[in-house]
Formats: sequence, C-alpha cells, structure tokens
Amino acid sequence: MTRVLAVETSCDETSVAVLDGAADDVALRALVILSQDVHRIFGGVVPELASRAHLTAIDPVTRQALEEANATLASVDVFAATMGPGLVGALLVGVGYAKALAFSRERPLVGVHHMEGHLFGTSLEHREAVPPFTALLVSGGHTLLIDVEAWGRYRLLGRTRDDAAGEAFDKVAKRLGLPYPGGPHLERLARDGAPGRVRFTRPMLRRDQRPGDADYYDVSFSGLKTAVVNELGSGKMENGEWARADIALAFQDALVETLVEKTARAVEQFDRSRVVLGGGVACNTALVGAMRERMEPLGAAVYAPSSRLATDNAAMIARAALFHFEHGHIAGLDLNAYASLPLPGLIA
Ligand code: KG4
Ligand code: ZN
Repeated sequence: MTRVLAVETSCDETSVAVLDGAADDVALRALVILSQDVHRIFGGVVPELASRAHLTAIDPVTRQALEEANATLASVDVFAATMGPGLVGALLVGVGYAKALAFSRERPLVGVHHMEGHLFGTSLEHREAVPPFTALLVSGGHTLLIDVEAWGRYRLLGRTRDDAAGEAFDKVAKRLGLPYPGGPHLERLARDGAPGRVRFTRPMLRRDQRPGDADYYDVSFSGLKTAVVNELGSGKMENGEWARADIALAFQDALVETLVEKTARAVEQFDRSRVVLGGGVACNTALVGAMRERMEPLGAAVYAPSSRLATDNAAMIARAALFHFEHGHIAGLDLNAYASLPLPGLIA
C-alpha cells in the first residue's frame, strides 16, 4: 500500500488529496478543494491573482487534507503535483510546494499531466471505469477523445481545433448575459428552451467522414459560437421568434450531439464496451444523458464523475501519480511547470 499526497494548482482551484492504494485498488482518504472566487468579478481567471491565491491557500489546504485523512506528513510515501498543462504561475506554486515536501521528507516526487489526471478521476467513483475504454475529456481548456488501451497507453483520436467545449459554453453563456463560469448557468437556462425552435449546424459532423480523415474525430466549436452570436444579433428575439432559453438549448444540442457522435465512432472503431467522461463539462446532464442513450444500442456503459471529481481536483492527480510511482516514473527536484505539455503514453 502506497500513500500519495497530491496537489493540483493548474487553474483556479487549490486542491490537495491523500490517497492510499496499490494498482487499481485505491481508497481516497481526503480531498480538499478551495475554489478561488475572486475571478468571478473579472469574468475569467486572472493568472497572477490565481498564483497569489494558491500561494496563500496551499499550506492550510494541505493541513486540512492531512487532518481529514487522519494522516501525518511523515506517513506520506509519495508527493505529487500537476506539472501542466495550465497557467504556469499557478502550476509553479503546486510544483514548488510538492518539491519542498518531497525534499524535506526525503520521499519521491511525481509530476502529473493534468489531463491524464482527468482520465483516472472517474475510476475513483466507478470501479469499472478502468481500461480499456473510450474517454471523452471535456474541460475549460481541452477537448480530447482518447482510446485508452491500458493505463499509460493512449491513442489520441481527436481534439478541438479551436475552442474547448467548456470554453464554448463559457463564451456563449457570456453572450447570453450569464455569470462566469457560464457552463452550469447555460445548462439551467437551456432547460426552459423549446426544442427545435432554433437549430444550429453540427460542427465538423458529416456522414461522409471516414476513419483516417483528420476531421473524423476532431471537433471545432468556434463556428458554432459565431453562429450563436449572429443569431443573437439578428433581431429575431425582439420579434418574438425565440427566447434566450431556446438559443441556449439549440447551442447545447449542437455541441452535445457532435461530442456524442464522435465518441460513438471511437467506441465502434475500437470495439469498446465502456465510455469514461471527465472534465468540467462532464457535469452537463444533457451530455451524459445523450451519451447513455446513444451508447446503449452499442452495448457500451457510460461512466460520468460527480461534479466534485469532474472539475479540477487533486484526487485524480493522486490516482494518476500512484500509477506513475508504481511504474518507476519519479521526477527529480528539477521538475518544472509547463503551460502546454503533450499527454504521456501516446501510442500510434
Ligand atoms: O475541468 P474544469 O473544472 O477546468 C478545466 O480544467 O478547464 O472545467 C471547467 C469548465 C468550465 O468551462 C465550465 O463552464 C464547464 O467546465 N462546466 C460545464 C458544466 N459545469 C462545468 N459546462 C456545461 N455544463 C455544465 N453543467
Ligand atoms: Zn481540468
């Protein structure tokens, strides 16, 4: 049994987790997530404010996680931190802090890729969400469709060519006058929308696409965002042709159908029986519902994390760190932070 303490500071949550485990047999002992509220005032994350908030929060958050886990620093076998991708100044706080702990306690240090963390996160709540599976990771910064053959063996099938799914939600929500981050607000507004009153073209989704075509798995949401903006400026709302909620629903439908269809293609091509969702947009119940409905006839089960584990948290980082520690992937004290970073373990 290995005890991991992980810190996650890639964006605007300061999070620390303590996890005990061996291979896929893990127990989460504690998870503390402190969301930085300050960014709401600015309608987006202000990098320097995020770094400073991590700096003041990281130590008390760690102490609370240890207390909740009923653990001491001395009982930790491995220290881990998210090393990227993310805001460099924010990441540096967590990396530097984990380094100091590893150095002073004379314990190994593991650096974790944030998106690989999301891949592991869902398995903390669903024991069956283990490889092989098709993964759809949809967050504020990334949209990745991955075939996970085994932990550490990933086929990157598709990604967004422009805006991430969460980013598209947030930008459209802003245009609809909703608070930041807009994803959850837009989902709520869409519940009052009338189905079919407005329809947007499904971006990058055509029947004539074939496996091997670059756009078979890739997605793109900036055109959809522009279509929404144009519709909002068309004067049709003023004419009573539709209400704001109808636009929210039409946008969500287009985005969801695109993601679901691309995921179905991956499930069919690799003959997978499990779909694992991760990232903040995996909180979207329309996405999860549509995914379940589409996967049922394909015989694939869908695993979605709770909102606590879908959004950024250190538990998923601790889980991924356990895997890397067990495979001897130990970082030196020269571990750095990276704004962009390729996913480890990519196979052709
Ligand atoms: O994974 P995450 O917490 O942070 C990143 O790594 O980016 O994802 C945050 C994103 C935001 O864009 C937020 O609007 C979106 O997830 N989100 C949602 C929902 N809940 C969070 N988007 C759509 N529907 C939701 N219910
Ligand atoms: Zn994330």
